[in-house]
Amino acid sequence: MSHHNAKDTLSITDNRTGRQYEVDVREGDVIRAMDLRQIKVNESDFGMMAYDPGFTNTAFTTSRITEVKGGKGILEYRGYPIEQLAEQSSFLEVAYLILNGELPDRRELDDFVHEVTYHTYVHENVLTILQGFRYDAHAMGMMISTVAALSTFYPEAKNIEDPANRRVQIIRVLAKMPTLAAFAYRHHKGLPYVYPENGLSYTANFLNMLFRIGGREYQPHPALERALDILFILHADHEQNCSTTAMRVIGSSRGDPYCTMSGAMAALYGPLHGGANEAVLRMLTEIGTTDNIPAFMDSVRRGERRLMGFGHRVYKAYDPRATIIKRAADEVFEVTGRNPLLDIALELERIALQEEYFVKRNLYPNVDFYSGLIYQAMGFPVELFPVLFAIPRTVGWLAQWEEMVVDPEQRIARPRQVFRGHPRRDYVPMESR
Ligand code: CMC
Repeated sequence: MSHHNAKDTLSITDNRTGRQYEVDVREGDVIRAMDLRQIKVNESDFGMMAYDPGFTNTAFTTSRITEVKGGKGILEYRGYPIEQLAEQSSFLEVAYLILNGELPDRRELDDFVHEVTYHTYVHENVLTILQGFRYDAHAMGMMISTVAALSTFYPEAKNIEDPANRRVQIIRVLAKMPTLAAFAYRHHKGLPYVYPENGLSYTANFLNMLFRIGGREYQPHPALERALDILFILHADHEQNCSTTAMRVIGSSRGDPYCTMSGAMAALYGPLHGGANEAVLRMLTEIGTTDNIPAFMDSVRRGERRLMGFGHRVYKAYDPRATIIKRAADEVFEVTGRNPLLDIALELERIALQEEYFVKRNLYPNVDFYSGLIYQAMGFPVELFPVLFAIPRTVGWLAQWEEMVVDPEQRIARPRQVFRGHPRRDYVPMESR
């Protein structure tokens, strides 16, 4: 931000020494953490650092992809509001936008869809890998492993400096994620694998690979196909969250995108992040009936439980994705019938939006609160919910990864620590302990 008649600098007085420092303030009210290093009491000191567990106030990168304005509940991909994209665009068009920075024209979109469609097959040996998993293996564990395993099928992916090579790998990952997810599901069910069908859309093909039984082609209901496409649009990117930061941190050592993304998926898997949609469904199932809500809310207020699907580090208003999902849920339930857990969810939300504990802490429903109800109504098992988050988020991870790879300011991620351990001491032989 530039102000008239003012200097874009920050003056710092170190009251320990009385010394004055002046550091530049950059666009967006940012100072460079390294500018603090000059602040010392003695010449031999290391210099001042910022301590920031959980990176609550640290910008780790510059980015041009996604902006979350948390106070206002705004989300934009490349400047386009999420509401407009969810209403008018398609997932693959949004993927193109996020990866390339601009909306495609008709030909660019056709080419992109064609490329993604023709990279959906996975090497048959991947099936052998899946065979090694037990029938009840969690789908995310299988996905994380098989995405990492893909790196061994494409060793040339290591050559991350070559833009054309990067592009091929990005298309591959994006194209193969639904196939891997569907195969993980079919393995779990003990059903034969259904191979990708090139004539179907990205989401219809995914649904076909998951749910087709026998020789007949599976015809997803157009409303469900569209609802899944919208959910994919909503999950495509969310700037510097836990898994995206993992993607950038791992990628900063310049490994291949498959192993790097496998790590990002592991970060997504936890219940505070992409595993929250699964945790919400388990929570609603455990609550069971609206009669049990008061007792459950008491345990939340006592700090014993978290209301899963509520709260967000950045949004301090209603998550715009939750608003869109709530609307989409009505359309899905018209086809599938109402999910009986919806009443519990609505009641939890009603209480949370008016109660002191939640209002004071800005706890609003986030993207994960209603998505699980849709997924369940559509027939997805709960173990697949985090996978349904991971498939579209692949776009964001890869776009952010590429942005990091070509960013001349980025270096290997290597934070500092404040050491509070034992100072130097001499080794004590076993007999003397
Ligand atoms: N239920 C009850 N209390 C909560 C919740 C919740 N869901 N979330 C935060 N709080 C309380 C927390 O106990 C703390 O209270 P106090 O100040 O009295 O100690 C205060 O609110 C601040 O919480 P925090 O843990 O410091 O906030 P954070 O920014 O570190 O955590 C969060 C953000 C999303 C991890 C957290 O809100 C949470 O655990 N939510 C439930 C899990 C969830 O739904 N995750 C999905 C997030 S959105 C999509 C995604 O990222 O995948």
